[in-house]
Amino acid sequence: MALDNLRAFLSAIDAAGDLARVDRPVSIDKEITEIADRCMKSPGGGPALLFTKPTLVGGGAARMPVAVNLFGSERRMALALGVDRLDEIGERIAELLNLKVPDGLFGKLAMLPRLAEVAKFPPKTIGGRPPCQEIVLRGADVDLSQLPVPICWPQDGGPYLTLAGVITRDPATGTRNVGMYRVQVLGKDAVAMHWQRHKVGAAHWREMAARGETMPVAIALGGDPASIYAASAPLPPTIDEFLFAGFLRGEPVRLAKAVTSDLEVPAEAEIVVEGFVDPREPLVLEGPFGDHTGFYSLADYYPKVHIAAITMRAEPIWPHTIVGRPPMEDYYLGHATERIFLPLLKLTIPEIVDLHMPAEGIFHNLVFVSIDKQYPGQAWKVMNGLWGQGLMSLAKLIVVLDKDVNVRDPKEAWWVALNHIDPERDVRFSMGPMDVLDHSSRGFTYGSKMGIDATRKWKEEGFTREWPDKIVMDDATRAKVDAMWRSLGIDLPSRP
Ligand SMILES: Cc1cc2nc3c(=O)[nH]c(=O)nc-3n(C[C@H](O)[C@H](O)[C@H](O)COP(=O)(O)O)c2cc1C
Repeated sequence: MALDNLRAFLSAIDAAGDLARVDRPVSIDKEITEIADRCMKSPGGGPALLFTKPTLVGGGAARMPVAVNLFGSERRMALALGVDRLDEIGERIAELLNLKVPDGLFGKLAMLPRLAEVAKFPPKTIGGRPPCQEIVLRGADVDLSQLPVPICWPQDGGPYLTLAGVITRDPATGTRNVGMYRVQVLGKDAVAMHWQRHKVGAAHWREMAARGETMPVAIALGGDPASIYAASAPLPPTIDEFLFAGFLRGEPVRLAKAVTSDLEVPAEAEIVVEGFVDPREPLVLEGPFGDHTGFYSLADYYPKVHIAAITMRAEPIWPHTIVGRPPMEDYYLGHATERIFLPLLKLTIPEIVDLHMPAEGIFHNLVFVSIDKQYPGQAWKVMNGLWGQGLMSLAKLIVVLDKDVNVRDPKEAWWVALNHIDPERDVRFSMGPMDVLDHSSRGFTYGSKMGIDATRKWKEEGFTREWPDKIVMDDATRAKVDAMWRSLGIDLPSRP
């Protein structure tokens, strides 16, 4: 059974012994960050946290608890998506993509249910009063300062909603998008929307602005964990995140009509902030914000969202995350994407064996990829292919290795790569779009990329010397030493 909402997810985490409940008062003004940061930096990602008595900036008690680090370990990320291993989802997708059309009518008919599996669980809009609208605040009752919106880091421009699913629609096609974008509180009924220029929400806004139409926006906090994750996944603009969440869950996501617009919102959300952007209004200064690069992202201009209503459960829980110097909770969300989307990358770049983005590389700064090299120049082909795929286009450094290298172990990947390269021959620079958060590129969102071909070099690539083997002990000697190990009296922390 899929987990339907944040409280079910919290209960499952608790049952797994992975939840730490903090029952003393803790301020939402940076104290939650300091506690959560220490947990997230501990081995394996630390426990999920539930602050039952958060205090507001003025010191008063908040009316709801704050939950942090729910997705912050491989185990909890798998729990969120209802699997034992994240690779199970990638394997399910790979099986669906293995679409060789069978011979004969019966074979073709047998294929149809498999194809339909992707879209088998479209979101379902329910009637009546959904849980996320048990309380509806409008007009003068809308006051974000009454909610426990944390201030994360000392130089942050204000309090931020950090684990939000921002719902918009493409005005031309009607396709919905849900994106995880940070949202800065500007006042009691206004926020700044940090959808970066490469993201789908920003594309919808540009289209609405070109039409001069007011743009409805809904910001969902909570809901089923697969939907929360899906908001962070780099899906193509044509795929509805709630449909994808239904595929992950094996059950539809339940939606409800928003109270102030024709958008639909997750019925099981804890809180929904409904509002609109007026494209005729000037942009507002957003930030600075202590970001997932480990540095502050500088203040810049983004659209203002006017809040028309805040709806919530009778007893909501405020979902929150912090970003900062890695590793943080977002590493595990990104890691799920890495495992789930690998088969899709292999569809167009089939020689890819595995791919890994280590935490220190904050996703786009460093991509290790192993390939089954079959012809000269293939490493360059793979890099160019990756730079041509969706948000992979933002990758700053791509290192290509042979298939026998475990790229999920950065120490092994660097060890082999540094041995295998002649820098002048094997390093190339290219140009392209850069992540909005990159503070070093020559222009905003524009700069250079580096590719390293760390594969074994072939004669056709101009390498005529002999290539050495990796040192590996023979099996017979290993077995002999295994047999004598206990009698050696050598005490090692873990057996090598
Ligand atoms: C915790 C967290 C915070 C994020 N904050 C932002 C943000 O403020 N702005 C942004 O454009 N992307 C942000 N992202 C990345 C997007 O969620 C991600 O690129 C996603 O694919 C965007 O969805 P879209 O492709 O539908 O636009 C964040 C991701 C995570 C995990």
